[in-house]
Amino acid sequence: MRWWDIGPVLELERALFPDDAWSKGLFWSELAHARGAGATRRYVVAEEAPGSEGGQGGRVVGYAGLAAIDGTGDVQTIAVAQEHWSTGLGSRLLGELLTAATDFECREVLLEVRVDNTRAQRLYERFGFEGVGVRRGYYQPGNVDALVMRLSDPLSAVQGMTHGSQG
Ligand SMILES: CC(C)(COP(=O)(O)OP(=O)(O)OC[C@H]1O[C@@H](n2cnc3c(N)ncnc32)[C@H](O)[C@@H]1OP(=O)(O)O)[C@@H](O)C(=O)NCCC(=O)NCCS
Repeated sequence: MRWWDIGPVLELERALFPDDAWSKGLFWSELAHARGAGATRRYVVAEEAPGSEGGQGGRVVGYAGLAAIDGTGDVQTIAVAQEHWSTGLGSRLLGELLTAATDFECREVLLEVRVDNTRAQRLYERFGFEGVGVRRGYYQPGNVDALVMRLSDPLSAVQGMTHGSQG
């Protein structure tokens, strides 16, 4: 993800997270930590392929970001345009983040997900994430709890994907 992607990313962000969409400033700040020798973030976008149905290609249809601090990765965000759900794009984006976690030499990767977001939880479970706790009222407004999930070995999850054993 580069600064010129922030506009289209924000459009998706507001559609997919209507209650707690990130601001433009937050994406700018995350990207500022994604470059240079001391980078602690990796942000990626998925673009529609040229010649795909109804599009000329290049449209941003998904994005994801990881933070890596002191050997722990944290999935900051992951999202796919609704018309592309269930095509494997979410899995590809998560795979990119776990590869990045491996590059950052993370020993574990954590994330928070709304307790009612079973679609996302299934995606994470397929990669080996396990629920390790609940944060009460984490999502505001709405006072929705977060399930905290943890993947203990991002390297094997990435290797599992390469060898096609992710199920
Ligand atoms: C969660 C989210 C990123 C998942 O994205 P997705 O692109 O639908 O994910 P995938 O296509 O990889 O997986 C979804 C399903 O498609 C299936 N699938 C279909 N074709 C597939 C393919 N070629 N490869 C892999 N999986 C495929 C998967 O098996 C999976 O099945 P399941 O529903 O039984 O788990 C997406 O729904 C989203 O953006 N939601 C709104 C934002 C959000 O909630 N983000 C998470 C915040 S914590």
